[in-house]
Amino acid sequence: MREFILSPSLLSSDFGALRSELTALEEAGLKWVHWDVMDGAFVPNITFGPPIIKRLRKTSGLFFDVHLMIERPERYIQEFADAGADLLCIHAESTLHLERTVSAIREAGMQAGLSLNPATPLGVVEYLLPQLDMVLIMSVNPGFGGQSFIPFCKDKIATLSAMIRSRGLQTLIQVDGGVTLHNAKELFDLGADVLVSGSAFFGFPPYAERHKAFQEAVGAK
Ligand code: DX5
Ligand code: ZN
Repeated sequence: MREFILSPSLLSSDFGALRSELTALEEAGLKWVHWDVMDGAFVPNITFGPPIIKRLRKTSGLFFDVHLMIERPERYIQEFADAGADLLCIHAESTLHLERTVSAIREAGMQAGLSLNPATPLGVVEYLLPQLDMVLIMSVNPGFGGQSFIPFCKDKIATLSAMIRSRGLQTLIQVDGGVTLHNAKELFDLGADVLVSGSAFFGFPPYAERHKAFQEAVGAK
């Protein structure tokens, strides 16, 4: 059985109580937490950046899965490494020199992820795949929580999964946007290893119960 990882998106958490939200996630048995960093340029929203992540790193043992929705992320790699990000995921559409930026993320000691907007073809990962710890298939257009899953993204997940397996790689597939208890099993079976959930997670405390509900939905322990 493949491991299933749930990465709750703090975008739907209480921003006024981030420290206690992180503690509650850890106490509920979650291992990962998903940080949506938005700059108001690549996406319309603005959220948080390295200083907040750095401050909260001190009190959390969770795996910090940092999803950058910012223009030219190469400008901030060292800052996110210093802030304590475990995995830094950049968007293929946000920078011209992807190989250089992915290499810089790994050289800074973080795991590297590459995220694709729904309409971005999978071909962009072809040559980079061996250098990637994770590929993020966006299943909504980034920028907001609570949107509906775009159905054609299922094909992308299945095709990417076949590509990774045929090349004998261990690259994780993450799916973000419109993930619910109802589609979690289908997405896991298509090949998603890490499911991000914002509104379908934080809106339904207690978190330990919700985590268990996702695990049971996909048939994982
Ligand atoms: C969207 C973000 C997501 C968002 C998902 O731009 O990348 O992580 O929080 O929210 P839900 O799970 O509500 O679709
Ligand atoms: Zn995200």
